[in-house]
Amino acid sequence: MELTIKQQLEKLEHKPTISRSKAETLHLAQELLKKMTLAEKIGQMFQLAPPEANVEGLKWEHGEENSSAKLICEGKVGSVLSVTDSETIFKLQKLAIEQSRLGIPLFFAADMIHGCRTGFPINLAMACSFDPDLIERSCRQIAYEVAHTGLNLTFSPMVDLVRDPRWGRVMESNGEDSYLNSQLAAAYVRGYQQGDYSSAYSVAACCKHFVAYGAAEGGREYNTVDMSERELRQHYLPGYKACADAGVASFMTSFNIYDGIPATANKFILRDILRNEWQYDGFVISDYTSSYEMIDHKTARDAREVALQSIVAGLDHEMVSMTYLQHLEELVISGEIKESLIDEAVIHMLQFKYQIGLFDDPYKHLYADREQYMRLPETLALAKEAALKSVVMLKNNNQTLPLVKNKQKIALIGPLADSNQVVGAWGSLARNEECISLLSGMKSLVGGENIVYAKGCDILGNNREDFAQAIAIAKSADIIILALGEDQSMSGEAKSRAYLNIPGVQNELAQALKALNKPLVTIVFSGRPLELGWYAENSDAILQAWFLGNENGNALASILFGDSNPSGKLAMSFPYTVGQVPVYYNQYNTGRPSTNGEYSEYRSCYIDVPNYPLYPFGYGLSYSKFEYKELLIDKKTFAALQQLTVSVEICNTSAVSGEEVVQLYIKCKNFSVVRPNRELKRFKRVMIPANCSKIIEFTIDKSDLAYYNAEMKSIPENRDYMIYVGSDSNADLSAEFSYLS
Ligand code: BGC
Repeated sequence: MELTIKQQLEKLEHKPTISRSKAETLHLAQELLKKMTLAEKIGQMFQLAPPEANVEGLKWEHGEENSSAKLICEGKVGSVLSVTDSETIFKLQKLAIEQSRLGIPLFFAADMIHGCRTGFPINLAMACSFDPDLIERSCRQIAYEVAHTGLNLTFSPMVDLVRDPRWGRVMESNGEDSYLNSQLAAAYVRGYQQGDYSSAYSVAACCKHFVAYGAAEGGREYNTVDMSERELRQHYLPGYKACADAGVASFMTSFNIYDGIPATANKFILRDILRNEWQYDGFVISDYTSSYEMIDHKTARDAREVALQSIVAGLDHEMVSMTYLQHLEELVISGEIKESLIDEAVIHMLQFKYQIGLFDDPYKHLYADREQYMRLPETLALAKEAALKSVVMLKNNNQTLPLVKNKQKIALIGPLADSNQVVGAWGSLARNEECISLLSGMKSLVGGENIVYAKGCDILGNNREDFAQAIAIAKSADIIILALGEDQSMSGEAKSRAYLNIPGVQNELAQALKALNKPLVTIVFSGRPLELGWYAENSDAILQAWFLGNENGNALASILFGDSNPSGKLAMSFPYTVGQVPVYYNQYNTGRPSTNGEYSEYRSCYIDVPNYPLYPFGYGLSYSKFEYKELLIDKKTFAALQQLTVSVEICNTSAVSGEEVVQLYIKCKNFSVVRPNRELKRFKRVMIPANCSKIIEFTIDKSDLAYYNAEMKSIPENRDYMIYVGSDSNADLSAEFSYLS
């Protein structure tokens, strides 16, 4: 009797991945390549999205029925996208191994970007932890779950630098600063890949979206990017480069153009920079149909031209589009391209498969009962730690927070107060129904006796019917906690917004509650920085909660009641108004800088709003009170082979122990090209016990002073510098030094 899939999965005996050098995998790949027909080679360059790749105009000629299976059996598929159930993965892999002529294993990839089965906070929230170690540990745990689903690769990290909160995908990013982005990017890769894949629980990562996808004009999704090479190199490339240096397995091209050419067929980006300058030897995959979309960009006449341009530019693997499958063979036969171009791409693909151990065990990562590996206590504990460190306290007047347990009568109001819809976009296998709402979290911490709840209104729409009930319960309470913001579906891919307001009638509800003259705490849920000007003036305290995933309510309750001390810092500036966008901390000075960022005539400013944001990059409050003093540098002039040591004393003058993210910025007083007013160069998360002080030391070297000069060389010119250390990008404790090579 034939075994069921489950029984077959149960009988699988996993073989360890052999740790092989690049030279060994290259040799193995070359040997296998010799046995392959041209069609089989091209098959390795295609990523299938079953059941059918539904791209208009690209119906596969083998027709409707079961054509995914047919393609696999014919050796025309290299990998599979977004199939996440183990049984289907097993079935498809079995077809490849047993039915295709050479039995080359498929790899399976999906987007597990901030959690797999356990929902971690959205990436922008985690970036606010300023904690690479936390990111690395989280990604190890995420990889552990991914590695029990049957998947081999996660399409993460996204390291697109972002300065425009209108873009819905800022929620996937590490925010606006290239140094922070790079540090976190490398941590993601280390966490997922854990070195050499010989661990059964590591998965391959993919650095995306190459290149500069976060700079879409107007924050409009998939829109044009137009950027100088200097801006690209200085600010946008470092995050991607950090992934390459950390050994990321793959790169994904972006939907946008760079310098007039779609990134997916951009030779300057893919060959000159990635392969030649960075010596990157992993594989490059397109984004979802981004190659076929060159027809709509109007840079390719048809699918044949798409294939030609992409292979010449260095694209190894097509996601969903079938232009390679359909046209590469004829391009070789007609002599328009050399087969060696295809060989080069296929070698990348095969090497990857050898590297991650698919030839040792094609059923790697497949388990009969995978659920037992998911949402383990240690994974949930880490998700809670991540949530705690992601929350940013934006305001806390008169120590409104923390709340006093079982003393105050609390009115908890708002559409996100008892909502579990907080997985956030790209939630992969995490489930909203397993997320703890704020109300449940508060009740499980302090009981429900002193908490009254009313929804008040929906996130969207103009229904005010429930205002009265909310006002009534608020009247009976000592303090109002208002939980509002965006719906989680309002950020993520294809979720650009032209307004950055809190939607619906939520602001009206807030105003009605404010009129009661009670202490008001606002908790903002969102996938992007929103306009919080009214709240900054009218709330006594504000917590930016993002979307925190499974442990949402537990983490927020713990912070609200003072069991945990908030320590998150903004990875992205919060504008007063959308009209300021892009507003980011490391702007240039201009020839007519405004005084203090305020209005003055004929200076670079607005007549109706300051230049600076409402809340700047790096900003976030704590229940502790940190004072910075004694900023010392060990030399006034620093030479090429030296290091500069910077030390600062931080006193926690409060009775509450807390973690502080100490930030070091430099400012170059003048240079051969304009440089930002400030540049983040170091940060350190440190615990400072109550009423204690600590001396924190940083060292910087000449590479930290380097900048792309007029000749497009990144060098530290002999110049004068300022150094600032403090708790956000406005830090004012400073010292001066000079660099003399
Ligand atoms: C997104 C990528 C993602 C891919 C596969 C695309 O639409 O831009 O980030 O990895 O889909 O799901």
